Amino acid sequence: MWRSAPSEVKRILVTGGAGFIGSNFVDLVLEKEPLLEVDCLDSLTYAGNVVNLEKAVQNPRFRFIQADILDHNRLEDQLGGRGYDWVFNFAAETHVDRSIHEPRVTVGTNVMGTLNLLEFFRARWAGQEPQNRFIHISTDEVFGSIEKGSFSEGSRYAPSSPYSASKAASDHLVGAYYHTFGFPGIVTQCTNNYGPRQHPEKLIPLMILHANEGKKLPIYGDGGQWRDWLFVQDHCVGVWLAATNGEPGRSYCLSGGQELTNLEIVHLIIEELSQLTGEPINKLQSLITHVQDRPGHDRRYALDSALARKELGWKPVVPFQEGFRETVRWYLSHLDWCESVQNTEYAAWLKTHYHQGQCMEEGPK
Ligand code: NAD
Ligand code: DAU
Repeated sequence: MWRSAPSEVKRILVTGGAGFIGSNFVDLVLEKEPLLEVDCLDSLTYAGNVVNLEKAVQNPRFRFIQADILDHNRLEDQLGGRGYDWVFNFAAETHVDRSIHEPRVTVGTNVMGTLNLLEFFRARWAGQEPQNRFIHISTDEVFGSIEKGSFSEGSRYAPSSPYSASKAASDHLVGAYYHTFGFPGIVTQCTNNYGPRQHPEKLIPLMILHANEGKKLPIYGDGGQWRDWLFVQDHCVGVWLAATNGEPGRSYCLSGGQELTNLEIVHLIIEELSQLTGEPINKLQSLITHVQDRPGHDRRYALDSALARKELGWKPVVPFQEGFRETVRWYLSHLDWCESVQNTEYAAWLKTHYHQGQCMEEGPK
């Protein structure tokens, strides 16, 4: 299913490459593309970690650039005379809860940061080479919640959190740059990812670590919200194929096809953990605590990937059970990584004010 970059493509830029998906993408591309140079630009927010790039930094074809996509005046200096054929824009503030508590940060990075990159590469790519591509990594959340069926590329945008609204705005900017300037932008929208290196503010790692430490497992509301899960490597392949096989001006929906409610996911984590650690299932289950719901919480996300299958030749290949087991094992064997990424001011605030402060005594209302 992988398709190699054409020979004219010599160097790519991956923004946000020190985060969860970006770092998995960097590793995958370095492995699959033996001639390509891969630069990673990341400002290293609480969500970015150079340890995620420990394999990449040993590769002479890899270069790390610490830079902020908000700092448009310095991009010229920081990216220097290096030419990029393709850009993959993963950099973003990605946590919905954080976007609710600090909308300015999320909207600033996701909207203005994307705009800065578009402006920078529009100027750089003036009189564009036909191979230039700007792949903007987006989310199923831009379409909002859907009770039945699934959204696809033509569906109306209806974002409901500051995070999804900021991602929607950035998608529209990429579309507008194509329309107005012929800028070779492509958007990919993806369902929930899981896998190694996801920050423990997110559902799956948070529940694994809490259960492992015997802490409460905070389920927002009744836990009956549906998410569609995709293994991170499958997502990375889809993003790559959008560059090799996709058409500028288009968007592609990438779906895992593995829908589960949050409560179902937590029960699966408990079963897996119990098998691995010998901790009794009922003891772990007793940690489940329903807490106040996320404001404006979307009930269900779902995407139809028919276009990506047809035009990109993409489909997820990692069976959920396999990817999920690998993920749980990865967290248990990387407790030092988990400790280091949680050791930030933001993580401390999240722990005290959000998860514990909003616990409900008697289950969901
Ligand atoms: P992440 O939070 O793990 O990583 C984000 C990275 O962006 C971090 O390394 C951070 O340091 C960097 N960053 C943030 N602000 C920056 C700035 N101003 N300048 C430079 N770098 C900056 O996120 P992720 O889960 O890997 O998500 C990557 C992309 O994929 C995002 O655009 C997100 O919207 C999208 N996405 C994520 C999921 C998911 O389930 N995680 C699903 C669909 C789409
Ligand atoms: O759908 C794609 C999106 O998936 C990405 O665009 C986002 O960047 C990514 O963060 C993710 O968003 P979610 O809000 O779906 O992910 P999160 O892990 O925060 O939450 C998943 C579900 O679990 C959601 O319904 C809220 C719930 N939840 C989450 C946490 C952290 C809980 O019940 N308890 C929790 O402690």
